[in-house]
Amino acid sequence: MKTQITELFGIEHPIIQGGMHYVGFAEMAAAVSNAGGLGIITGLTQGTPEKLAKEIARCREMTDKPFGVNLTFLPAVTPPDYPGFVKVIVDSGVKAVETAGNNPQKWLPALKEAGIKVIHKCTSVRHSLKAESIGCDAVSVDGFECGGHPGEDDVGNWVLLPRAAEELKIPFVASGGVGTGSQLVAALALGADGINMGTRFIATKEAPVHENVKQAIVAASELDTRLVMRPLRNTERVLTNAGVERLLEKERTLGSDIKFEDIFAEVAGVYPKIMVEGQMDAGAWSCGQVAGLIHDIPTVKELIDKIMGDAHEIISQRLKRFDA
Ligand SMILES: Cc1cc2nc3c(=O)[nH]c(=O)nc-3n(C[C@H](O)[C@H](O)[C@H](O)COP(=O)(O)O)c2cc1C
Repeated sequence: MKTQITELFGIEHPIIQGGMHYVGFAEMAAAVSNAGGLGIITGLTQGTPEKLAKEIARCREMTDKPFGVNLTFLPAVTPPDYPGFVKVIVDSGVKAVETAGNNPQKWLPALKEAGIKVIHKCTSVRHSLKAESIGCDAVSVDGFECGGHPGEDDVGNWVLLPRAAEELKIPFVASGGVGTGSQLVAALALGADGINMGTRFIATKEAPVHENVKQAIVAASELDTRLVMRPLRNTERVLTNAGVERLLEKERTLGSDIKFEDIFAEVAGVYPKIMVEGQMDAGAWSCGQVAGLIHDIPTVKELIDKIMGDAHEIISQRLKRFDA
C-alpha cells in the first residue's frame, strides 16, 4: 500500500510505532521496521545522548530497514540534554524523528539540514497547523482515545481526523485508539495517510516489557483506562490499577490545590517498576482505550500482516459492495 507516509519514510506499510517510554527500545523498533512499518526508539528513555547512540547502533544490528527516534519535549526544571540528543541523532544517520510535547521549532534546522524527516505528534488541529507552518514533514494526529497525553481538548478521532484533513496540506497519520485493519481503512477514508500505534504494539511477542504488562492489556476492556493529572493540565490516559485509583482519590480530595509533589509516589519513577519488574499496581502508566480491541499477543509481523491483510480485504470486498 503506497501512501504519502510510506513514500516519505521509505517503508512498506503505512504503520508507525509511536515512541513509548520504557517500551521503545531497539528490540521494539527493529521488530516493527523488519515487519515493514516504521519503528521508533524512545530517546529520553535512554537517559543520555551516549546511551541513545548505543541504542541506535544496537537497532542497526537488528534491522537494515529505516527506523526513527522519538524526542519528547517536556517542561522540566532540569531539562534533558536535548542538544546532545539531536547531535547524536544527526551523527547516527537516522532519517526519521518523531517529535512530541512542546513545539520542536528550535531543533528543526539541524534535523532538516541532515535530511531527517520530522513527524510531530499533535492533539489538536491548531497545533497540527503550527507544525506544518514551522516546516514539519508530517503530523501524527493523536485523538482523545490515545494512550499517553491526549491534551486538554478532548476531541476524538472521529471528528479530529476529518478536521485535520480539512486544514492540513502535509500528510498525517491517525494516532490513538488504532489497532485493527478496519481502523486503518477508516483512517484512510477520513484523510489520513497511515496509522500510528502505541498500546497495540506493547501486546506483541517482541515488545521488551514484562509479561504482566502484556497480559494486563489483553485483560483490559475499553472501560479500564482513566485520565489522571487533569487538574495539573498534564492529562494522561493510563490503565487503571490500585496506584491510579489512589492518585484519583488525591485529585478528588485536594481539588485545585493539588501539586505535582502530592502525586509523586504514583507517577515518578513508575515506568521501570511496571515495564521491567511487572509490578502492575505501582502507579500510572500510559495505555489507550484500544486495549478493549486487543485480545492476543502476536509477533509484530503477524500483527502488521493481519492489519494489512484485513485492510486490503475490506477495501477490495466489503467497500466494493457499496460502490455499485
Ligand atoms: C506506555 C506508553 C508510553 C508512551 N510514551 C511516550 C513518550 O515517551 N513520548 C511520546 O511522544 N509518546 C508516548 N506515548 C504515546 C504513543 O507514542 C502514541 O502516540 C499513543 O500510544 C497512541 O495511542 P494508542 O496507545 O491508543 O495507540 C506512549 C504511549 C504508551 C502506551
